[in-house]
Amino acid sequence: MSEELKNTAIEELKTITSLPELAQLKARYLGKKGLITLQVKSLGTLSAEDRPPAGKRINELKDAIEAACSAREDELTRKDLAKRLASESIDITLPGRTAGIGREHPINTVLSEIIDIFVRMGFSVEEGPEVELDRYNFEALNIPKDHPARDMQDTFYVSDDVVLRTHTSPVQVRVMEQKKPPLRFIAPGKVYRCDADVSHTPMFHQVEGLMVDEGITFSNLKGVLETFVHQMFGPQVPVRFRPSFFPFTEPSAEVDIGCILCGGAGCRVCKGSGFLEVLGAGMVNPKVLGFCGIDTERYTGFAFGMGVERITMLKYRVDDIRLFFENDLRFLRQF
Ligand code: PHE
Repeated sequence: MSEELKNTAIEELKTITSLPELAQLKARYLGKKGLITLQVKSLGTLSAEDRPPAGKRINELKDAIEAACSAREDELTRKDLAKRLASESIDITLPGRTAGIGREHPINTVLSEIIDIFVRMGFSVEEGPEVELDRYNFEALNIPKDHPARDMQDTFYVSDDVVLRTHTSPVQVRVMEQKKPPLRFIAPGKVYRCDADVSHTPMFHQVEGLMVDEGITFSNLKGVLETFVHQMFGPQVPVRFRPSFFPFTEPSAEVDIGCILCGGAGCRVCKGSGFLEVLGAGMVNPKVLGFCGIDTERYTGFAFGMGVERITMLKYRVDDIRLFFENDLRFLRQF
């Protein structure tokens, strides 16, 4: 009976593959209510002379099972360690895994470049809200409620008199209401138009520029914008002013630069014209100056507005504006 118990224990030990299992087996045989322990307890039922030899035998069995258990324990511990050493080993010859480091978005890089160029020409930097009053986005810029010019811009309305600004021009008005000439600043920021295709996204960036002082003329505008274009695209790039219309400037101009893709020879991008439109500009309409309480007899000014995505696309030859906002790292890492 007891001999059988030992043999079963030893057979079972062979099938055990983990230390927790071994602990269970030990409890089952040698624990407080274990099979061997029960046998020790049953010695009490034997007669005085039968007890010592029986006790001796049980002790031998117990010792044998304990010895087998600790042998198995050693074995399993060693196997466990070998397994851990193999799986947790570090191959120090492998190349390191570097942490992914972020970088500036190309739009922000070009925006900083634009700001730097104007700061070097003595412009300061102003900001205005992206959620703007109709009054500043349109009214004060000589675009009354029923003016056809509002059709030029697909506006996101927040309420009847609150919009997502469709351009950075309202910052002109906000600053002129607060500060008096001489003024020379740019206003970079996000603008919103309900429009989406290869060259339009519902949100994009503009940089507004305004200079107001005594004796400011169109030639000052030309000088500043030519300097800007030459610093941005290179001194060889020609600049062209074309008559245009904006309600808040008079006269107004559309500013073109020589096509930087074909060098002016004519290509698909410039549609054979050799020129690309990059910004809108003009002399600030006296009505706008008057709205801000600026003496129009004494002061004149110029204003301009450019699209940052447009400049970036030309500079880096990107032909789809949507790429800037898809956040595909393969695209963004190229800059
Ligand atoms: N606000 C105009 C636009 O978004 C650009 C512009 C700014 C034109 C300043 C003239 C003067 O199209």
